[in-house]
Amino acid sequence: MARSASEIVFADTGGCTLALIGEYRAVGGYEQLERARRMEPGQVIEELLVSEIRGRGGAGFPMGRKASFLAEGTGKPTYLTVNADESEPGTFKDREIMLRVPHRLLEGCLITAHAIGCELVFVYIRGEYLAEFEVLRAALDEVREAGLLGDVTIVLHRGAGAYICGEETALLESLEGARGQPRPKPPFPAVAGLYTSPTLINNVETIATVPKILELGGAEYAKLGVENSSGTRVFSLSGNVVNGGNYELPLGTPLRELIFEIGGGIPDGHRLKAVIPGGSSTPILRADEIDDVTLDFTAMAAAGSQLGSGAVIVLDERVCIVQLALRVAQFYMFESCGKCVPCREGTRWVVQILHPIEEGRAEPHQVDLLLDVCDRILGKCLCPLGDADAIAVASYVDKFPDEFRRHVEEGGCPYGGASSLDGVLSPVDLYPDARTGYMGSGRRH
Ligand SMILES: Cc1cc2nc3c(=O)[nH]c(=O)nc-3n(C[C@H](O)[C@H](O)[C@H](O)COP(=O)(O)O)c2cc1C
Ligand code: SF4
Repeated sequence: MARSASEIVFADTGGCTLALIGEYRAVGGYEQLERARRMEPGQVIEELLVSEIRGRGGAGFPMGRKASFLAEGTGKPTYLTVNADESEPGTFKDREIMLRVPHRLLEGCLITAHAIGCELVFVYIRGEYLAEFEVLRAALDEVREAGLLGDVTIVLHRGAGAYICGEETALLESLEGARGQPRPKPPFPAVAGLYTSPTLINNVETIATVPKILELGGAEYAKLGVENSSGTRVFSLSGNVVNGGNYELPLGTPLRELIFEIGGGIPDGHRLKAVIPGGSSTPILRADEIDDVTLDFTAMAAAGSQLGSGAVIVLDERVCIVQLALRVAQFYMFESCGKCVPCREGTRWVVQILHPIEEGRAEPHQVDLLLDVCDRILGKCLCPLGDADAIAVASYVDKFPDEFRRHVEEGGCPYGGASSLDGVLSPVDLYPDARTGYMGSGRRH
């Protein structure tokens, strides 16, 4: 993790960890909790509103507004749920936050709990994150022993390895012990969430930012970053780049600066081909489209993509875009929870159409068919997973039509086995029948 002058989440770490409560207290840790508890809950929410912090999990909804939407007078408890499921391909920031500043996350939980009048906090942590879970558990033990919990109980809940359980309502279903599948909205969790009670759900990074917002004051925090995108974000930089890793930067930092200066550029003399700027669910940008793009919500939208989960995936000229499409599509097919038809069937169709294109067995019209299927998924699903598949794959065709055309016209992959994605396994490759969408019921979807 590189250090930056404007660190918020990783502030005071000096590039190291603050995993022990003594280390965290030595840099002022838990002072904001004590301050917050002397404030009226409404005042804390006001600071969050003024800070203009937007959620760091993907959708970018303003945290203060979400907290202020929580239903009152229901006679039911209010819950805080922290989303630590972190399964968006390319994203690995929350795990570093949990490993290096677990107490900042826990302090954020306790401050937020005070702000919304909640006594039960759930941290839903990705099942594969065992080391992160252990660090968080040890930190929670220290908080308990230090008597800092007050009336609040924090429950660490390990998921079982499903991408869809990062979607907030599927997460709630899973927490309640049911199959992790999204619920229709409305009602939104702020009205009827966990156990039908008002529930605030926020990402790890969002909650870990809360102590510093109080320390700086909402207005000062809002001055960091750029208009409509206040503060910093931890960007997960990966792919064909020299120095991959997590970098906390002010929002509004140029994308090229992250890739070429901070990230050291493309290795071994290769050329930048494209960037997926916010995790696999976001539309791809060609190299020639990123010159003026900055890492903030407005600029990304203007460029035709999204900031998403802050996962910047760098692709050089060796990447076959059809292979990329297939790999991404297989992921969504595999992770579709199956609850609604356009996603359950559509994600399989996308894979089934992409396979013959990649293998050079497709007719020219099948690229149009691919776009048609994407169009029939888009906007017709219960949750954004289906849309993510359609948006990502359609963007690959839109931005690199020649690659799809060449696969068809040349009767095979023009990279001839030299694509850097060639032979890279996707999760579904572990299950041969799933590669083509075969569900084992005697029929092909
Ligand atoms: C398929 C899917 C997976 C998601 N996975 C995550 C995740 O792993 N972590 C996360 O914080 N948000 C994830 N989200 C977004 C959550 O639904 C929700 O918007 C977020 O947790 C809210 O927190 P925030 O406002 O702090 O961003 C996912 C959404 C979808 C549709
Ligand atoms: S869009 Fe996909 S993942 Fe979301 S509810 Fe429908 S089937 Fe499940």
